[in-house]
Amino acid sequence: MCKQNQPKESRRSFLGRVSKWLAGLAGISLAYPLLRFLGFTIPPKPRYITVTGPLPASGFHAERDFILFADNDSSWSVSRTCTHLGCRVHYLEDKHLIECPCHQSRFKTDGTLISGPARKNLPSYPVETQTDENGQITAYVVTL
Ligand code: FES
Repeated sequence: MCKQNQPKESRRSFLGRVSKWLAGLAGISLAYPLLRFLGFTIPPKPRYITVTGPLPASGFHAERDFILFADNDSSWSVSRTCTHLGCRVHYLEDKHLIECPCHQSRFKTDGTLISGPARKNLPSYPVETQTDENGQITAYVVTL
């Protein structure tokens, strides 16, 4: 076949294709804010926080976003954000409980609500331990 025998694309069909592409791009660019408006949320990427182990004899380590606890058998972490109004909670080592300084909600070390205006438990985060060749814990990785 010779190229000269093929029909040339008319200006009208070219402009039609370009306008379809532009309409598609406009649709895609409008879809994101529309989905956001409708409540569709993209889950945030997980954050991995590494805490060097083993923990001190007190058995806990407080970071900005979580409190990490560990005993001989297990390790766990709970959020430091109070479920009442969002204040940062503190671990009271002498009382073995977590307390919110704003309105004195109290939680167990596993995040279970004990008392206070808060109505929900503190969220917990998964913890993985890393060990050396002797089985000693070298780090705790908390997934937020
Ligand atoms: S914000 Fe924690 S008890 Fe109110």
